[in-house]
Formats: sequence, structure tokens, C-alpha cells
Amino acid sequence: MRTSTPPAPGPSDPTAAVRRDRAAVVCGVGGYVPPRVVTNDELSRFMDTSDEWIRKRTGISRRHFADPGQATSDLAAEAGRRALESAGVDTVDAVVVTTTTPDRSCPATAPLVATKLGLEGVAAFDVSAVCTGFVYGLASAAGLIATGVAERVLLIGADTYSAILDMEDRTNAIIFGDGAGAVVLRAGHADEPGAVGHFDLGSDGSGEELIMVAAGGSRQRKSPGDVSRQDEHFSMRGKEVYRHAVHRMSASARAALELGGWKAEEVDHLVPHQANIRILHTVAEELGLPKERCVSNIGSVGNTGAASIPLALVDAVGDGTVKAGDRILLTAFGGGLTWGACLLRWPSLPPVRPSHDNGGTPA
Ligand code: UT7
Repeated sequence: MRTSTPPAPGPSDPTAAVRRDRAAVVCGVGGYVPPRVVTNDELSRFMDTSDEWIRKRTGISRRHFADPGQATSDLAAEAGRRALESAGVDTVDAVVVTTTTPDRSCPATAPLVATKLGLEGVAAFDVSAVCTGFVYGLASAAGLIATGVAERVLLIGADTYSAILDMEDRTNAIIFGDGAGAVVLRAGHADEPGAVGHFDLGSDGSGEELIMVAAGGSRQRKSPGDVSRQDEHFSMRGKEVYRHAVHRMSASARAALELGGWKAEEVDHLVPHQANIRILHTVAEELGLPKERCVSNIGSVGNTGAASIPLALVDAVGDGTVKAGDRILLTAFGGGLTWGACLLRWPSLPPVRPSHDNGGTPA
């Protein structure tokens, strides 16, 4: 699906003049990773792997794992609090959380996050699109704003992969980390810095089995004794996923560029889902971009699922790599299969607190 923002109102619509260039505009950003750092060497102590293999094959040196008492809503609330601070606001009309690791399979995590943030009574729901979640969430939040349902939305990508990883599966256990990244979006105009869009979104359910947690849903029910260790944990067919990721992230990025009328060389920063450094550099190459224009923090946080794009943005804004006015291309791929891309011109924001600054008390 290809969508352009803003939507085109009908010619007889009396609000057309107001809505024609109404768009969602980024006005705040925040990220949070839990304090516990897990190095490759630490993993090598109980898994048949090595720091050298992990760094060479994935670009990852370390990741953060939540403590057992810390759930996705805790990480999400802290990232959300930082994004609200960055935006200089204390209220929004809706909270959207995108995650593969909700606190519970029922209810959604967003209402709890809203309550933790003191946002009583606001609309709150989850978006599930695995590692493409942030781009899907951005499109959902932009839709709420473009249609006038909300003036301001807090969107949070958060995942606690350590809760679903099989620590006996060395191929996948070394990739993922925990974290949360958030943006505040406000109603604004399509031509102002920070306006999100155009979007390209897509899916292919025939690839369901490439990335999944097999048991625990309605397909394969979880009753004591019935479920194997592998089926109750996250599984990924890495090599196949790798090929899909390169193809889909590049194609989706190209589609969004075409919709927005941007040439690839006009992109200042490619901010891809942080899947594997080799994937990111290949996608940059496919788009004809030097790898220096590819934003990556995978070395220090690993693949944080729905949090990976906003966390990469927070860290790149925080260290001055991404500046006001820069043209940004987001692209992601994940389980589903799902993929998506989005264009964005970075707005002027106050200094951003780095995601690894754990000075704050998690909610
Ligand atoms: O977030 C959603 C999107 N995710 C992705 O896009 C991830 C895509 N996939 C990948 O990033 C890579 O496929 C992995 C990092 C998962 C795996 O890397 P790979 O280069 O594809 O490794 P492989 O599975 O082909 O394994 C190569 C070798 C095998 O040994 P043999 O059969 O050649 O002797 C594996 O057993 O490396 C071995 N191996 C390991 N060795 C040390 C696999 N995992 C490890 C490990 N440490 N952790």
C-alpha cells in the first residue's frame, strides 16, 4: 500500500480548506534502554559463540536486557516521559504503543503506559507489526491527526526481547536487545519541518513462519506440558529473513522516495530498522547511498525490534549527526512479513537526552 499525506478531502467537504495540508509533525523525541548491559563476552560464557563472530556477522558489541521485574510498559513509559519532556507538553490525545512483547497478551500495553504517564482517559491502543511496528505506528498516529481525531499523539516503539528469546538458540539470542523509543506528533502542515510522510507499507502473510513465537496464541494453544521450549520462544529463520530484509527495505524505501519526489542522493540520513549492520549497509548500497549516511546504533543496543528506529534517531540527534532540516528516510522490515518506509524532514528540537542515560527512574 502506498499512502501520501495529507489525505485528499472531497471537493464538497466544508473542512477541506483546513484539512488539505493538515499533517502530523514530530515535536518531541525520547529513548530509554534498561541499565543492564550484556556484552558479547558475557553471552559467550554460556553459549557456543564469540565476541568476534557476533561483531563480524552482525555489528553488535553489546545490548541491554531488562531486569526480570521490568516489563515493556516500564521501558515504554520512560521513553514516553522523555519524549513528552522533549516536546514540552504534559498531555496528548492518544497513546499508541507498538510492540511484539506486550506486558500480557490481553489487554494491550498502551492503556497501562498512558496511566503510568498520568494521561488518564486518553485513547490508547497497540499496533502489532513486529520490527516494522514503528513505521506502521507512525502511519496510524499520522492518520489520527490527519483526520482530526487527535491533535497530539504519543507514539512509542518498545520491546523486551529478552523475555521471549531462547537462550539455547545462539543464532537469534545474540541479535536482540531491549529498549523503547518514542515521538510526540502534533497537528501541523505537510510542508513544515517534522511533517511525516509519504509512506509505503506492505505485508506478505505467506512468510508467517519465518519469524514467530509459535505457541501461546489461538493457533497453537499453550497448556502445561504441551509446548516445546522452541515453540514458546521467539524463532527466526535468519538466512531467509536476511534476503527478504534487504529486498523489502530497499524496495519500500524506493517507493516512499518516489511518492515524495525525492531523489535518493537528496537523503541526508537513512534510518533503517537495526536488523544487522551488513543488512543496513547493503540497503544503503542498493539505494546508491554511501554507508556514512546510514544511521546505526546497533553496535551498542542490538536489534530492539519496534524500538530500533526511534532509538537510532534519538542517539543520532543526541550526538549531532541528525540536525534540523535534514532529510530522513526510514525503512523497516519484520515478522508478518511486514515492511514499510517513510520520509521525514527533521524539525528543530531542544537537546535530546541520550537513550543510555539512566539517570531517570523507570516508571
Ligand atoms: O528484525 C527482523 C529482521 N531480522 C533480520 O533481518 C536478521 C536477519 N538475519 C541475520 O542477521 C543473520 O542471518 C544471522 C545473524 C541471524 C545469522 O548470521 P549468518 O551469517 O546468516 O549465519 P548462519 O545462520 O548462516 O550460520 C553460519 C555459521 C553456521 O555454522 P556452519 O554450519 O557454517 O558450521 C552457524 O552454526 O555460523 C554458525 N553460527 C554461529 N557461530 C557462532 C550461527 N550463530 C552463531 C553464533 N556464534 N552466535
